[in-house]
Amino acid sequence: MDQDQLKQAAARAALEEIREGMLLGIGTGSTVNHFIDLLGRHQPRLAGVVSSSEASTERLRAIHLEPTTLNETGDLDLYIDGADEATRQGHLIKGGGGALTREKIIAAASRRFICIVDESKLRGVLGEFPLPIEVIPMARAYVSRELVKFGGRPEWRSGFITDNGNEILDVHGLDLLNAAEMERRLNQLAGVVTVGLFTRRPADVLLIAGARGVERLEPGKPA
Ligand code: A5P
Repeated sequence: MDQDQLKQAAARAALEEIREGMLLGIGTGSTVNHFIDLLGRHQPRLAGVVSSSEASTERLRAIHLEPTTLNETGDLDLYIDGADEATRQGHLIKGGGGALTREKIIAAASRRFICIVDESKLRGVLGEFPLPIEVIPMARAYVSRELVKFGGRPEWRSGFITDNGNEILDVHGLDLLNAAEMERRLNQLAGVVTVGLFTRRPADVLLIAGARGVERLEPGKPA
């Protein structure tokens, strides 16, 4: 199976977690696109959906699902999203598609977060994938200088503007052995909107598609 088929398999496993009447958060990216396509095909009866990006909103509209907003719904039952990297503890790097801020808000406002990945995204320690950080445009150079002090090599995602009108720095080389502490410290830099580390609100469930099937992990659940 190639990577795209594995992404499809993870998306299919996520569909099995959907129950009638759920309020659903929908993430962004190619894995989630497969999930949206499956929603279109199976049309489960949902109480509503909230989208994490303009791109996902457009795809949801194409299957006749009009997203509502978090301000109208209150907390969501379930959030389904992909990731750029994941550990077996449910810690994630997200934001490769630039939707990290809305993704983090929806994850925070969801009772359960199911992350769908193929096994190539699994890591013992996060950080091979450059860490996306959304910044207020006027703070880009300042935040970059501060990130160098953290040992990072920030790269401006030139020409890319987020759905919130901000810019992205992709940071290489950060030591993420203690990713939760790094998330906390980077969050405090003036001008940082969102850090693409999801450790303080990790995934509750990981659906990891590999050659031998889809593994389901619940990192926070006592054994
Ligand atoms: C979007 O901003 C990201 O957080 C995505 O969840 C992530 O990039 C995964 O994308 P793919 O499913 O395309 O690999």
